[in-house]
Amino acid sequence: MHLLQDQEPTDLERLTGLTRRHFLGAGALGGAALFLGGSLLARSVNGAVGSGTLLGFDGIPAATADSISLPPGYQAKVLISWGQPLHTDGPAFDPSGNGSAAHQEAQFGDNNDGMSLFAFKNDPNRALLAINNEYTNYRYLYAHGGRPQSAEEVRKALASEGVSVIEVHRQDGHWQFVQGSPYNRRIHGNTPIAFSGPAAGHALLKTAADPQGLKVLGTFQNCANGKTPWGTYLTCEENFSDCFGSTNAAHAFDAAQKRYGASAASKEVDWHPHDPRFDMAHNPNEFNRHGWIVEIDPFDPASTPIKRTALGRFKHENAALAQTRDGRAVVYMGDDERGEFIYKFVSRDRVNSGQRDILDHGTLYVARFDAGSQHKGQGQWLELTHGEHGLDAGNGFASQADVLIHARLAASQRQATRMDRPEWIVVSPSDGQVYCTLTNNSKRGEDGQPVGGPNPRARNIYGQILRWREQGDDHGAMTFEWDLFAVAGNPSVHAGQPEGGSANITAQNMFNSPDGLGFDDAGRLWILTDGDTSNNGDFAGMGNNQMLCADPHSGEIRRFMVGPVGCEVTGISFAPDQRSLFVGIQHPGENGGSTFPEHLPGGKPRSSVMVISRTDGGIIGA
Ligand code: FEO
Ligand code: CA
Ligand code: CA
Repeated sequence: MHLLQDQEPTDLERLTGLTRRHFLGAGALGGAALFLGGSLLARSVNGAVGSGTLLGFDGIPAATADSISLPPGYQAKVLISWGQPLHTDGPAFDPSGNGSAAHQEAQFGDNNDGMSLFAFKNDPNRALLAINNEYTNYRYLYAHGGRPQSAEEVRKALASEGVSVIEVHRQDGHWQFVQGSPYNRRIHGNTPIAFSGPAAGHALLKTAADPQGLKVLGTFQNCANGKTPWGTYLTCEENFSDCFGSTNAAHAFDAAQKRYGASAASKEVDWHPHDPRFDMAHNPNEFNRHGWIVEIDPFDPASTPIKRTALGRFKHENAALAQTRDGRAVVYMGDDERGEFIYKFVSRDRVNSGQRDILDHGTLYVARFDAGSQHKGQGQWLELTHGEHGLDAGNGFASQADVLIHARLAASQRQATRMDRPEWIVVSPSDGQVYCTLTNNSKRGEDGQPVGGPNPRARNIYGQILRWREQGDDHGAMTFEWDLFAVAGNPSVHAGQPEGGSANITAQNMFNSPDGLGFDDAGRLWILTDGDTSNNGDFAGMGNNQMLCADPHSGEIRRFMVGPVGCEVTGISFAPDQRSLFVGIQHPGENGGSTFPEHLPGGKPRSSVMVISRTDGGIIGA
């Protein structure tokens, strides 16, 4: 029970002894449901009894085991694991860490993250999965378990990241990886990729190896994803700046490089001592060629991926696609860094215009959230167009390319709202509301980041889930209303607000650091976590990282899955019939203590994509 100090109880609250949740939308939803001890008491705001919950399973307890926990009647199977060969004659996974870079380039990448499923139109039992491989763990990648010591070892690390495209078949109701499919493909940190859009060919993208600034080697640190209505995959480059360093320890980085996180020490990735491409003392512009969204055609294994510069450069988490009322493409995007921003891109052309370069022409906006009361308010989209609102040469922006390459600086110029680390954004298929995880922010309240609005807690260790509704339910609108759907917390350790969390957080479903998000076709909201798994102190009782499921209408949240030791649960996609759920287990045993999923004595843990199904073949979550 977490009654806000400034909130008077309503008649219904007095009646039930429960508090109205402050995260309810400003009239956005038809019914407010309250729940008591885990069982839903569905009532509309006017007191009428509603039709119950979308959640058809019993929530499960927190767990700390090196295994996957699910509700009764559900099962999990491995679809594919790090190192599995994609081709029939491919090199087998070598748990010793002695496998070569060339081997890794032909194997499933490491630390799988966001993924999208592409169904074959003429066969319901065939699909492609495009799966991001975000980063690698040297502890397991190399036999010596430390940082790379040669160019070959850097190449192996680059080979472990990027994207894996795989074919999957359904046989007897179960989806399986098809080794040897001609669609199977690795796109990795050395794959040739093209630039397009307003920044392509700009001086800041030119290097000695690419004097025209039009071709780049590789994509890496591929966090989450998007799927376009025209059937392509978007992979989002996130922590790229960790991969750059300088062999000159006294290197003087300029303000833009610093804003993007450049440092001589390269955050322990250490590619730059062995591959000059990542050494900013010699190749400063290579840094500008990463931090983009890359478009991939999964059905054409010979196609060249394209970095779409009109979407802006920052630490991209994912890309959530929507459409304006008049049929133009909208891409919602978060920049996952403390105090960075939420963006949206609106295309110039309609999705059905037949053009293949929809994402090259349009307008980029950044969000400003105005604080209202009780964790809700209004907001505006601020345009990031060269020549307008101070985005001009006098402020360091000589062209639209400058605005896009340094989108963070442009957004600051427009005084956008500094957020608590925006992670995934998803759009509800039921009512078009947009949800975004703000995973945590230890610096909120410091560093010029005010406490309030959608970022309501100083030293925010638990995170929250923000949502907004665009004016007139049009994704092309320039204003919106927002509220907080959930404020994570620990009601067992902290009585009351703010650390106890919002009223839909209980001792039975508590979690921290919401990160991945996904909607199924019925409008259930799936929440994946990447948090503190110490199960101690502020986090006591939360156990390992997990996946929960929420009913957006009632606000109820139940824990659906718990992952193995040390993992993050990230990446989610549903089979078209909603009877199989693909979910990623990333970095099990990140700091040791896991042999998931094979549990071989002395074996290595392996990041894996799992397929969840019901033993009765039913719809997941129903
Ligand atoms: Fe790759 Fe912000 O998570
Ligand atoms: Ca994430
Ligand atoms: Ca995270």
